[in-house]
Amino acid sequence: MKIQQNISLKSYNTFGIEALARYFVEITTIQDLREVLQKENYPDKIVLSGGSNVLITNNLNALVVHINIKGITILSDDDNSVILKVMAGENWHDLVIWTIDHDYGGLENLSLIPGNVGTSPIQNIGAYGVELKDSFVSCEAMDVSTQQFITFSKSDCKFGYRDSIFKNTAKGKYIITSVNLELDKPPHKPNTSYGAIESELKEKNIEHPTIRDVSDAVIAIRRRKLPDPIKLGNSGSFFKNPVITKDKFATFLNNNPGAPFYQISESSYKIPAAWLIEQCGFKGKRFGDAGVHKNQALVLVNYGGASGQELLELAKKIQKAVLERFGISINPEVNIIG
Ligand code: EPU
Repeated sequence: MKIQQNISLKSYNTFGIEALARYFVEITTIQDLREVLQKENYPDKIVLSGGSNVLITNNLNALVVHINIKGITILSDDDNSVILKVMAGENWHDLVIWTIDHDYGGLENLSLIPGNVGTSPIQNIGAYGVELKDSFVSCEAMDVSTQQFITFSKSDCKFGYRDSIFKNTAKGKYIITSVNLELDKPPHKPNTSYGAIESELKEKNIEHPTIRDVSDAVIAIRRRKLPDPIKLGNSGSFFKNPVITKDKFATFLNNNPGAPFYQISESSYKIPAAWLIEQCGFKGKRFGDAGVHKNQALVLVNYGGASGQELLELAKKIQKAVLERFGISINPEVNIIG
């Protein structure tokens, strides 16, 4: 374990933002993690995993701890399902492909989500009708102050839409070191109810899709809509889709009769933030090197030289415009640090 100084974080965040870490350490074992957390001469520590859900707005005058602990173990295996223990530093999409290669079902709709396994519970990653919580059993985490291990069950995690205990009361207190997932053995029951998947499969004349067919469909849809962070810096959806009350929704729909929406309960409705942003004229717009993606208005992009501050300013400009036009607040789903 080597603590380095003044390290560029450009290749450690998918926005591709140039920012320096005053100190930087890569962690590949639990032992190293424990040791680094015990170092009292570095009081400020920031954990960075896959870097796919952060906007770094300044140089970080702290010790950046990059979690890169690898490994996949089968904990149990019966006729119906397997339980996997996956270490935090495994790449999420590589894990999805590994499960498909082994014919374990459940993660196929979550193909091509950037980031690592250790951060997947923090925002309960989700796409195309499936969320991490659907396969999640538990996770192990190290308490930052005591270095003790704690197991969080599914109910402990308090999962919600892009939300968990790790974004709320447990924020900053734990480092997730591994995640246990329960996956199905065949015969699989793939979830193809999401409109875009249905039409993709129909176009390919696939009536009884395998989990690989679903994964391929999701990959094709995502490639069309979402920019590849290697080619164009981004962090997926920048904002969460806002949820509004029934009363507010009635007024909203009255003023915007064609607007898309999803009813999520008796009394609440979710509005696609992408639609709100597009209506405000931001889709495909560019301000210097910061911009809004041309195929998905929910994705902010870095054309190369944008700073975290510039992207943050653009995000604020969008929030203000949406609030003024629709009276709806939209909030970032990415973590803003710096
Ligand atoms: N829409 C627009 N303009 C756009 C894009 C979309 O008006 O530029 C409207 C369309 O009416 C569309 C609706 O928004 O029907 C929803 O769009 P989409 O299905 O692409 O989903 P989303 O709400 O924009 C969410 C997740 C994505 C996830 C997709 C698919 C959030 C914040 N985002 O996006 O997650 O892949 O659904 O399930 O919930 C991510 O979190 O990084 C992410 C990419």
